Amino acid sequence: MTTLPKPRQPDLKTSLPGPKTAAIMARDALHLSTSYMRPYPFVPDHGEGVWLTDVDGNTMLDFFAGIAVSTTGHAHPHVVKAVQEQITKFTHVCLTDYPQEITTSLAERMVRHVEKPGEKWRVFFGNSGAEAVEAAVKLARNHTGRSHIISTIGSFHGRTYGAITLTGSKTKYKRGFGPLLPNVSHVPYPNPFRPPLGSTPETCGQAVLDHIEGLFQTVIPADEVAAIIIEPMQGEGGYIVPPADFLPGLRALCDRHGIMLIFDEVQAGMGRTGKMYSFQHSDVQPDIITVAKGIASGMPISAMLARESVMTWPVGSHGSTYGGNPVAAAAAHATLDLLEGVVKHPGCGDSLMHNAAQVGEFIMAELKGMQTEFPFLGDVRGAGMFIGLEFVKPDGSPDGKLRDAASMAMFERGLLNLDCGEAVIRISPPLILTREEAATGLEIMRDALRALK
Ligand SMILES: Cc1ncc(COP(=O)(O)O)c(C=O)c1O
Repeated sequence: MTTLPKPRQPDLKTSLPGPKTAAIMARDALHLSTSYMRPYPFVPDHGEGVWLTDVDGNTMLDFFAGIAVSTTGHAHPHVVKAVQEQITKFTHVCLTDYPQEITTSLAERMVRHVEKPGEKWRVFFGNSGAEAVEAAVKLARNHTGRSHIISTIGSFHGRTYGAITLTGSKTKYKRGFGPLLPNVSHVPYPNPFRPPLGSTPETCGQAVLDHIEGLFQTVIPADEVAAIIIEPMQGEGGYIVPPADFLPGLRALCDRHGIMLIFDEVQAGMGRTGKMYSFQHSDVQPDIITVAKGIASGMPISAMLARESVMTWPVGSHGSTYGGNPVAAAAAHATLDLLEGVVKHPGCGDSLMHNAAQVGEFIMAELKGMQTEFPFLGDVRGAGMFIGLEFVKPDGSPDGKLRDAASMAMFERGLLNLDCGEAVIRISPPLILTREEAATGLEIMRDALRALK
């Protein structure tokens, strides 16, 4: 009889936090910015695949990937090799002034995932999601000659001045920082689980579109609107998937009024939902796309992609000293190799994108199954490995306290996870997660939820 290998389990050598972790956290508390949050006592030392080991030797299963960043897991040999090879050639020259083959070919590769016949796209490289968002908004204003930007409630677009102005998820990101960017308005996001504007799960998309048209009649002249920026699947706001008719309706609305449609794919993009970009679950084509996080497995690089007909800003009008630096670009190439399946990751089928779809479907089905045992799991939603788990009180209202307790109970059992929205745990593991590893994580979640009951 053959015995199956035992699936790997978290290995907690000390109770959390261990002594080295506690000591580093104490030093961290003395010298790092008071703005940093420290929700979980964990100080990483090294990682391998979907596993992260802390400075005390505790090995945890990573179900959040540094907020949807570590697409290929930790220290993926293909990414490490690409970075090592590039860093020994040159680290920096400045892409704003000198072309570099590694970024030229990265742009060529990235536009292939969005171009349609007869349509060309161009890429601007930055270092972070917020920079990509700033670039998108600057381009939209520059191209249209209009100033107003519409964003959504619940959105997150980053921490720079433009980006916090656009952000609509929590007031703490704005309190005490004003004045912010003028001419920015927020409209509800069509959340089928909590439909806004007195709508239903089926009608919430149309209700938001009608609301925007209403604003154009009463508050904001449509011909002064440069862009609508939206996450095609909302991340920080609660891992929300809008109804299928919404993005096509939004595209039509933008076309009617000559407004640029910006899709912020910083969190949901780069294969996480099982497609390269989350908007590609629809037939809609935006004018501008922002990408960061999962693009380079943790190396800092971001991209703002725009249709060639839109990228009309003049020479010298925008740039970045480090943006598109060659070492990060090498990591992005290696990440794309794995996402596209040019390089195969053992146990992950054709490609990591494919794996995200398949294993994500398994996780989603299992979590939906858990809703019977745990009635406080009000909603399980998402696509691929972009999954939100919303905790509710018996009256259906969000239960943030229970979510916090669940999140900590999972952490204490060896599962790294992260909250979002008012009462949601986001499940955004590395896309190399196998079905067996997913099952291990789900078992930890089940155990933690039983302890809560
Ligand atoms: C959708 C979205 N846009 C932009 C950002 C900002 O990215 P960064 O923190 O890299 O500036 C984030 C970060 O969470 C995000 O989720």
